[in-house]
Amino acid sequence: MSGKTRKIAVMPGDLAGQEVTPEAVKVLLAAGLPYEFQEFEVGAGPLLRGEPAMSEQTFREAASADAILFGAIGDPRVPDVGYPAQVLLRIRFELDLYVNLRPARLFHDRLSPIRDESKRAVDLMVVRENTEGLYVGAGGRIRRGSQDEVAIQEDVNTYRGVTRILEHAFTLGRQKVCMVDKSNAMNHAGGLWQDCWASLQARHPDVETRHLYVDAAAMELVRDPSQFQVIVTNNLFGDILSDLTAALIGGMGVAPSANINPETGSGLFEPIHGSAPTIAGKGLVNPVGAIMTASMMVAHLGEVEQAQRIADAVEAAVIAGDCTRDLGGSLSTSEAGDAIVKRL
Ligand code: IPM
Ligand code: MN
Repeated sequence: MSGKTRKIAVMPGDLAGQEVTPEAVKVLLAAGLPYEFQEFEVGAGPLLRGEPAMSEQTFREAASADAILFGAIGDPRVPDVGYPAQVLLRIRFELDLYVNLRPARLFHDRLSPIRDESKRAVDLMVVRENTEGLYVGAGGRIRRGSQDEVAIQEDVNTYRGVTRILEHAFTLGRQKVCMVDKSNAMNHAGGLWQDCWASLQARHPDVETRHLYVDAAAMELVRDPSQFQVIVTNNLFGDILSDLTAALIGGMGVAPSANINPETGSGLFEPIHGSAPTIAGKGLVNPVGAIMTASMMVAHLGEVEQAQRIADAVEAAVIAGDCTRDLGGSLSTSEAGDAIVKRL
């Protein structure tokens, strides 16, 4: 394998993340990619020892790597439910990873929850805005702990932020792009999305454009997911709809994501599932999402053919039933990883 050696910062994070991330690294090593891996401990581990969930040095080193391969964040033992903001959200915001790509493609009919066979074929991309919206942490709580308490969570939408994510949706080279908002109820934020959408739409007459309110989009995704190619939406709606689209292709265990800044080339790559506290630590978690995520990272770093090889190996293993129980197989997490390595 030729090419310059890339530095990959590996952050398994919490629980299931610690089981699936080594499988992704295993596949990358087996594919012979010229990567140098450096592992960093983040999340509940350091936090429960009284250290920061992510140290400043870890952040600096990860930020200077060519890519970050991330597992999951979240641990019920941590009392502060907001601590993912100190790790995952901080990296997204500070590296300005404004594009969160969440593809969903159905490998095999048996994994679809859709009854009507003709509507099962899912091959879509959720393009989630990743640096604004309700995620920025603006707001506060006053009269805390009293019956008069007020909590305010502000939804931040900027012209530049909305424009750049909508623009990105048109760079994917797909025929149909659907913008999803809730402008009928959230008039200020929704109004900005509508205005930006109107001017962008006009600049792409070759693309079939459509708008849906998020409630209708959720319904349409379940009724007939085959009608969608690209869904572009804000941070929160993208988070919610991408769990829904994961369920359309076999569940949380299979869906990957890429958090990128197309201008700087920075990227954090994570399966969209969380730390799965109820099944973690038993060899039950599915490494497919993490391995497909690794494939997205490989493509982002320029090795498009290698990325495809990895995705093909995953697909072949899943189709053959060489996978974990959630997909109808009987393998453990690491056996499922081995089944993919064997097909490379
Ligand atoms: C995801 C996760 C995160 C999010 C959580 C852990 C903050 O659900 O990556 O989808 O909401 O973005
Ligand atoms: Mn999520």
